Amino acid sequence: DWTPEHFIQSTVERVRAQVGNGHAICGLSGGVDSSVAAVLVAKAIGDRLTCIFVNNGVLRKDEFAKVQTTMREQLGLNVVAVDSSERFLSKLAGVTDPEKKRKVIGNEFIAVFDDEAKKIFDAEKSSGEEVAWLVQGTLYPDVIESSSVHGPSHTIKSHHNVGGLPEDMKLKLIEPLRDLFKDEVRRIGRDLGMPDEIIERQPFPGPGLAVRILGEVTAERVAMLQEADQIVVDEIKKAGLYRKVWQSFAVLLPVKSVGVMGDQRTYANTCAVRAVESEDGMTADWAPLPYEVLRTISSRIVSEVRGINRVVYDITSKPPGTIEWE
Ligand code: XMP
Repeated sequence: DWTPEHFIQSTVERVRAQVGNGHAICGLSGGVDSSVAAVLVAKAIGDRLTCIFVNNGVLRKDEFAKVQTTMREQLGLNVVAVDSSERFLSKLAGVTDPEKKRKVIGNEFIAVFDDEAKKIFDAEKSSGEEVAWLVQGTLYPDVIESSSVHGPSHTIKSHHNVGGLPEDMKLKLIEPLRDLFKDEVRRIGRDLGMPDEIIERQPFPGPGLAVRILGEVTAERVAMLQEADQIVVDEIKKAGLYRKVWQSFAVLLPVKSVGVMGDQRTYANTCAVRAVESEDGMTADWAPLPYEVLRTISSRIVSEVRGINRVVYDITSKPPGTIEWE
């Protein structure tokens, strides 16, 4: 009989037996899956789990700082945070093709992760210990659909012993969630006492805001989209719709149009708002957000975000549209 308590208890016992006195590392994304996987494994082996959280320069506003605080202070995880935003943004310079963006971010992520993993590995080794395990938040749907069209966020899932890891660093996988669906992972997380802020989080793509900035990704455009995105999420939460919609976000278009501000003519960027309802992301309906919510989102974005003077709402379902614009 499946219950969260039973699952947690048996997983903790199994991981403890498997890992013994060994050490494990885990890549955190700030999302539900990797966080629940990390908390479960930490419950089994405590500080012998080190989590690696990378700022890829295309996270949401304040996310790098917020996730660190939550992971350390509320979840008690041992977190190494690496701010590699400049490195990612310089690799993304001039890249406009969506799949190329994914590739660049995926490759950079592996490089940064391997560097950090190697440092942890070397430090443990010098104290006579060995890091032998890699924790991943793979879910059942990932297992059955492992040849996804979306590489990069799943890169971490297929990433083991690629790139620069030393030969003797053969990591064995721990995938504590590989028999579970998303709603079961949320129940486990709730049972583990994790905050709603993490458990209820809407999915966010591994390549982050890079696939929501059409055209070239620059620091300036990332900052602009972060502001607009924050307003969308804020207002959706205020309206009590955050859990009802599957995803809600802003997209920055490579389109400028004319507007007026006071008695000045403006010529600035266009932002699309996207909100969809879905069970699993495979199909989705555009969400019929109340006009009042759309009105507030639009007027706040245009008045608060410098560089955006027009807001449009995406009324395309999937199929034939996709949820993301890239
Ligand atoms: P699409 O845009 O294909 O998205 O309808 C379906 C779901 O997948 C997410 N998505 C991604 N997730 N890496 C990810 O981790 C990616 O490259 C990626 N592309 C899309 C999207 O946010 C939605 O939940």
